[in-house]
Amino acid sequence: MPWCKAEGMGDLWEGEMRSCKVEGNPVLLLKQAGRVHAYADRCAHQAVPMSEGRFRDGVLTCRAHEYAYDAATGAGINPGNVRLRAYATKSEAGEIWVDTTRAP
Ligand code: FES
Repeated sequence: MPWCKAEGMGDLWEGEMRSCKVEGNPVLLLKQAGRVHAYADRCAHQAVPMSEGRFRDGVLTCRAHEYAYDAATGAGINPGNVRLRAYATKSEAGEIWVDTTRAP
């Protein structure tokens, strides 16, 4: 059963990010350019929740030590040699579904 509904996330706004649990896993959801992206809610540096950071102008920034990531891909911007773990998403019937076993 890989696809799981991200409960209560169907109303995610453009430019918004929120955290939720999917099958017990902390997941960060964000919407950018009309697309929903999902990531494991942990920074690649020291695992601080990315949902406690900032999402602005397409960049996710960790609150702890300012690691910055491309919000559309999870690729590190500064530093460039890190990456957030990305999950596949889909929208159906006004709900967001996440597969934490599959990359986008
Ligand atoms: S834990 Fe995110 S930058 Fe250090």
